[in-house]
Amino acid sequence: MSRIYTEEPKRPPSFTEAKNTRQRVRAAGMDPNYWYPAAWSKDLENGGVKDVVFWKRSIAVFRGEDGQVRAIENRCAHRQLKLTTGAVEGCNLVCPYHGWAYDGEGKVVDIPHSLFGKTKMPKFKVPSVPTQERYGVVWIFPGDPEEAANVALPEVPELEGSDPWPSIPVGMKMNAHHSMIIDNVSDFSHAYLHRRFRPFDEAELLGFETKGDTVELEYDTKVGRGRFNGLFVDHKNINTNHMKLAYEYPYQRSNTDEQIKHWLFLRPIDERTTETFFIFYFSSLKVPFTSRAIPNRILRRAMPIAKRLTVQPLLAEDLDALEAEQEGWERHFDAPLAELNPVVKAFQDVTIRKWQGFLDRQTTKGLTKKSRGASAT
Ligand code: FES
Ligand SMILES: [Fe+2]
Repeated sequence: MSRIYTEEPKRPPSFTEAKNTRQRVRAAGMDPNYWYPAAWSKDLENGGVKDVVFWKRSIAVFRGEDGQVRAIENRCAHRQLKLTTGAVEGCNLVCPYHGWAYDGEGKVVDIPHSLFGKTKMPKFKVPSVPTQERYGVVWIFPGDPEEAANVALPEVPELEGSDPWPSIPVGMKMNAHHSMIIDNVSDFSHAYLHRRFRPFDEAELLGFETKGDTVELEYDTKVGRGRFNGLFVDHKNINTNHMKLAYEYPYQRSNTDEQIKHWLFLRPIDERTTETFFIFYFSSLKVPFTSRAIPNRILRRAMPIAKRLTVQPLLAEDLDALEAEQEGWERHFDAPLAELNPVVKAFQDVTIRKWQGFLDRQTTKGLTKKSRGASAT
């Protein structure tokens, strides 16, 4: 029941305390055994370091002077300071306090002070985190490092090669749970919010299906009808009345007639904060008032303008709504469910199942360790 008067603010329930799907999904984390976006490549220059949080775990992601990205747990093995308060020297990250230097494996490779009689440098280490760079994004694998080689990033050939599709990368930190953002990007019932830009009008859900860890769905909708978008989208040659989307755990994507696509990559920070990385990409846009396609090399130059004029203001509307939803959720987490779009439940079921699966594996691992310990004694 929704509370009318409260003496003390209550907190939404934890994952194990949750009484229904919505409470469970809003408390769920994301399985760390996937690749998650840490930063845009261009924002991590040689010698740069960033504090990148994945679900409450702080990771120091740094780029050595050799251009290689490395990531290690963000704490000094000595006194637990955040290593991001230090600086990159060569290809190592150096703690600011006593100057211990860490390599990309998390090993202490230099202690620039007395070893108090020890003839050899003692071995200290913090865990390292696998990294890779692709699609203009630095990725981290916050789960079991041994799993990293078995888990692939989504293939996006349109963003690679000598003539990639013009794209708009745009990201923002949102004060909202990751599941709210997933609900938002594939639930077109919120066209009202975007009545100024009209990116998807009159959407009708045609169907949806959960296949493994992916929810696929299709809408009949009018894409890109807004005043500005409408000028650039070639409605004669692109079927902008139909859109395919998917929540391909833990990512989300859309595809309009193989011509206009996007991926959304999320990094969950905690229950009320998520970092988003969107990449929108276009195979053909037209010169306004003609049906002539704009060549890619010109389009690429026009992308920052489109980003400023349409994509950013559009996402700012979502941001406002999502942050307001998060606040509403924290006040009224026990209000009755009132959801009309059935895909929302399908997304939430996947998120819950994946998080529960991760927690179960952790418990099994813990038990196995314990029983090994017991048999060793
Ligand atoms: S606390 Fe980091 S070197 Fe001492
Ligand atoms: Fe939206």
